[in-house]
Amino acid sequence: MSTKTERESPERAGIYTSQFNSMVSLDSLPKRVEIFDTTLRDGEQTPGIALSVEDKLLIAEALSDLGVDVIEAGFPITSVGERDAIKRIVALGLKPRICGLARCRKEDIDAAIDCDLDYVHTFIATSKIHMEHKLKMTPRQVMEKAVESVEYAKSHGMTVEFSCEDATRTELPFLKEMHLAVQAAKVDKINMPDTVGTMSPPAMEYLVREVMPFTKVPLSLHCHDDFGLAAANSLAGVRFGARQVHVCVNGLGERAGNAALEEVVLGLMAFYGTPTNVDSRKIGYVSKLVSRMTRIPIPDNKAVVGSNAFAHESGIHVHGVLREPSTYEAFSPELIGKQRSIIVGKHTGAHSIKQKLMEYGMDLSDEQVAKLLEQIKKLADSGKHVDDAELVALAYHLIGQDKQERRMINLTEFAVFTGVNITPTAVVALDIDGETRRGSQMGIGPVDAALNAIRSVLKDKVSLEEYRLNAITGGSDALCEVSVKVRMDGDGKVVSVGKSVGSDIVNVSVDATIEAIDRLYMRKKNAGKEGSK
Ligand code: KIV
Ligand code: ZN
Repeated sequence: MSTKTERESPERAGIYTSQFNSMVSLDSLPKRVEIFDTTLRDGEQTPGIALSVEDKLLIAEALSDLGVDVIEAGFPITSVGERDAIKRIVALGLKPRICGLARCRKEDIDAAIDCDLDYVHTFIATSKIHMEHKLKMTPRQVMEKAVESVEYAKSHGMTVEFSCEDATRTELPFLKEMHLAVQAAKVDKINMPDTVGTMSPPAMEYLVREVMPFTKVPLSLHCHDDFGLAAANSLAGVRFGARQVHVCVNGLGERAGNAALEEVVLGLMAFYGTPTNVDSRKIGYVSKLVSRMTRIPIPDNKAVVGSNAFAHESGIHVHGVLREPSTYEAFSPELIGKQRSIIVGKHTGAHSIKQKLMEYGMDLSDEQVAKLLEQIKKLADSGKHVDDAELVALAYHLIGQDKQERRMINLTEFAVFTGVNITPTAVVALDIDGETRRGSQMGIGPVDAALNAIRSVLKDKVSLEEYRLNAITGGSDALCEVSVKVRMDGDGKVVSVGKSVGSDIVNVSVDATIEAIDRLYMRKKNAGKEGSK
């Protein structure tokens, strides 16, 4: 039996959990727990997932590299394609044991043998609900089938893991009889599925304690997440004797899914100091790979692997985390091969913005940071979050504006009308060196109408040489960056460029155009002063 001191200290692994966990620690906690991954079987039963053979091979290799102990590669009886995939996974000669699922039927076990498997996971339902409504079998018939199947697979030299399906809703005396019967048939491992996810952690503790005295082979758990408790129930079972846990990457699986590999592995390390053979630093990569292959996105707020798991926005949190990560991180992102991200939004403080821009080599004054913060809060109030590239673009724009001398041209009024069956029309009023000039123009779109209206109120003829629009990050709500090049007619060589960044294409285009024209006018004015000297 392991002792507390023999186990790995969570703090040494960079995990900072509550001290109260150690108050409920048990000497009976295992030194190591085996991870049985069923991403390719129960995970593939997630509604909407269909993996090709190549996808499955890639996932199997990644799981092997991750360090799981068993890969449940599929359900051989299902189809020719399924058998082909399992055979090819077996042929890879990976480090984990490869297992196939089989009902307690000879043809299912034969299908597993045909896939060259030497490990079968066979199951039959034992709860009253399942036996009466689904199997229409008596408990005796169910027991006979289970025993026959275990004996048949064993006679073919297979490692046999047996599950009473819906074990957690099975009468305890019958569960005991089943466990004893399959053990007499020389089963190697017994798995207890919480098939419909109807257990609570204290109930799982109770059940495992009840089952352990008559279960002499290693006990495994297979928990579904219908109440969001799959990982908690698995950990509860480990406390009192389970030595293997069935998991799926990203918590995939039937309905609400199975216990998530990443949550169980981290939970075992953090709360029990119990390692697995999983290399936690590869979890982030495998999670992304599985999400990409299955096309099931990882929710942003998913525990451990969600994109927000190590993202900090509020000023207080960012300040804390930058000083000492454990203030707001239970474990470091590096532990699972991820990185911390500082998000810029309405809760962001000046300190985080300054720090973040420093990372990009930009040292803004406190005044500039305050201006930038005001802009970010306005954008956030309109539902827009600013990512790194957008923050840098906004900062460059601000620095550029600050460098500029006082403007000669300022926009005082602006409106644009556009829609279906209407010619886009813009109205502007500009203050040009103290004189207000108004005008309106049409265009082929709202931006064209706006730029035409601006140019129409100028005394000089100014032509638009170039207009470039760039969505900084590519999303439909991304900030856009517009750069405009203008030329004053009759002054052939003199061109000027203006740039602006913001969320509204029309307003940003107007701002960039006025900046470019203003520079032309300033240059002309300064050239006049030089000439009169
Ligand atoms: O959830 C379940 O009961 C199963 C069985 C096949 C073990 O997936
Ligand atoms: Zn299941």
